[in-house]
Amino acid sequence: MIDLHCHILPGIDDGAQDPEEALEMSRMAVDECFSGIVATPHYGSGKFLSDINAVNRLVVELNQELEARNIKLTIFPGMEVRLTADVLGSLSTGKILSINQGPYVLMELPIALVPAGFENFVRMVLESGRRLVLAHPEKNLEIQRHPEIIYNLLTVFDPGDLLMQITADSVTGDAGLSALSTAKYLLENDLAHILATDAHSAVERPPRISNALDVVSSIVGNERANKMVKDWPRDILAGREVDCDPPRQRTKKRKSFWGLFRR
Ligand SMILES: [Fe+2]
Repeated sequence: MIDLHCHILPGIDDGAQDPEEALEMSRMAVDECFSGIVATPHYGSGKFLSDINAVNRLVVELNQELEARNIKLTIFPGMEVRLTADVLGSLSTGKILSINQGPYVLMELPIALVPAGFENFVRMVLESGRRLVLAHPEKNLEIQRHPEIIYNLLTVFDPGDLLMQITADSVTGDAGLSALSTAKYLLENDLAHILATDAHSAVERPPRISNALDVVSSIVGNERANKMVKDWPRDILAGREVDCDPPRQRTKKRKSFWGLFRR
């Protein structure tokens, strides 16, 4: 499996604090059967403005440490880019690291809302030759209230151009009921393409995925669940097109509180 979203690089954002914690997270990831991790330090979120050269250097150093310890894991470069007013400028001036320096950019929305004009923004990104992976839309407060926003967005663009990454702790309920019910809505309607850990540490937000993968499999089936952690992350790493179907709307609204406990 490939983890497409993980704050494993030491000392660059609110992820791993030091090289020892990065190695501990790596060992945990191997235990979970990951063979690769895209390191995605924050860019533009709060005080974090990761520098491309620093990210690339830390990726090389961590891969050297993993090899020296015979830990069978490869780290790839990337960033989790917060959507801000100047993000298109930062993309065009080369300040932002895409996933493994390919066409896909991992982008997160502001927490509270979906900015007006987001659809046009996506169109501009696509016209620049890039594709977008949206990080944990199920944690956005406006999408939690109106999850059909994601369905409507995905029907506008060609399948594979705009992809949704949901996070393991949302699926297991550890990120709260709203994130859980929204993640389930996305899964039930084929609106989620990638399952990732968004791990930040070895203790509080570890790189665990097994329980979440069980839940995802029970909703979308083993075949699609495998695509979400293996095939499609590999395609994204390699810069290939993700061969996914257009969304299907089966459930009109997210489930009620009690509906969360039924499958
Ligand atoms: Fe993240």
